[in-house]
This record gives sequence, structure tokens and C-alpha cells, in this order.
Amino acid sequence: MARFFSLVVVFLLCASFSCVASNKIVDVDTICKDAMDPKFCSTLIKSKPGAERDLVSLASYTLDVAHRNASNILKRIKKLMAQSGSNRKQVFLYKRCLHYFGSNVGVLYVIGQITQLLKSKDYFDVRSNGSSIIAYVEYCVSGEYPAEVVHFDVPSFPKYARVVEKVVDALILISINLQK
Ligand SMILES: *[C@@H]1O[C@H](CO)[C@@H](O)[C@H](O)[C@H]1NC(C)=O
Ligand SMILES: *[C@@H]1O[C@H](CO)[C@@H](O)[C@H](O)[C@H]1NC(C)=O
Repeated sequence: MARFFSLVVVFLLCASFSCVASNKIVDVDTICKDAMDPKFCSTLIKSKPGAERDLVSLASYTLDVAHRNASNILKRIKKLMAQSGSNRKQVFLYKRCLHYFGSNVGVLYVIGQITQLLKSKDYFDVRSNGSSIIAYVEYCVSGEYPAEVVHFDVPSFPKYARVVEKVVDALILISINLQK
């Protein structure tokens, strides 16, 4: 009986302070069901090497992938901008993407901020910073105004750039589960 009560106490403590959240075994389908691309989300989560499958390890793994992806995308932007030569419209589009990815307020900068937020377990701000990243990628890829029509001469570029958006979307979903 005493044992039963102590189990109840532990359960209640865990429920109110989410003491199990950080080492909770991850249910991929639960995390990814609300993703913008559920299949991408679950493939990403399952791609994590190593034995740690808890949400905290998964958050830092996902952020690491986002960082590598964003660095690759930034390199691609610089290359495509250089290749655009005197095509002023295309140069303008890539310059704008350069700003949203590489400037001291851009995607890579915010990824650095999120590294700190994860350390301090500030999952609410991870979510809001993550939403900013998604907005910045969209400004690059679809334009800054609803009526703007954006056309890249390299048609594969938008899909390539949106990879980081899907990775950050997964990170946001992981953070939501960490807050529970
Ligand atoms: C993003 O990172 C993943 C995992 O490292 C990699 O497989 C993929 O090719 C990368 N994509 C880009 C656009 O960098
Ligand atoms: C990131 O979160 C911090 C709060 O820790 C906030 O001050 C900052 O504006 C956020 N940055 C972005 C780009 O959303």
C-alpha cells in the first residue's frame, strides 16, 4: 500500500513538473503528425545516429542538421548570385536570400541563438525563434509581400532552400513536446 502511494506521488510530481519529459522515449508519429511534411519529419528523426532517443538529444541533433543545411544553402545562394551575372532581377532575389540566411539577423544567426535557448531549456523561445526562421526562408523563397511573384531561373532552388524550413518545423514540434 505504501509503495502504491509513493508511486502515485511520483506520478503526480512528474505530471506537474514534467520530470519525465527530457528522457521520454520518442514516439515519432506523435511528434510528426502535425508536421508540414510528416514523412520528411519522421525520416529526419529516425536518421539520428547513436543510442539517445530522448527529446533533448533529438532537439540538439535536429538543430545541428538545420545548421549544416543552412550553411549549404548559404553557399548555394552565393554561387547562384555570382552566376546570375548581369541579370538584375535574379541578383536581387539572391541578394535578398543572402540577407535572410547570412546576415547578422538571418537564419544562421538565429540558429546560433537557438543553441543558447536549448541550453537554458527555454522551449517557448525555441518555438518563436524557429517560427522566425520559417518566415525568413519564406521571404527568401516566396517574397516579402503577398502579391509578389517570385521566379528563380534555377527552379530547384526554392525546394533546396525549404529543406531547412522542414528541419526547423520538426525542431518546433520537438520543443512543443518538451514543454508538455
Ligand atoms: C541537410 O542535411 C541532411 C542531413 O545531414 C542531408 O542529408 C541533406 O542533404 C542536407 N540538405 C541540404 C540542402 O543541405
Ligand atoms: C528569439 O528569442 C528571444 C528571447 O529569448 C527573443 O528576444 C528574440 O527576439 C527571438 N528572435 C527571433 C528572431 O525570433
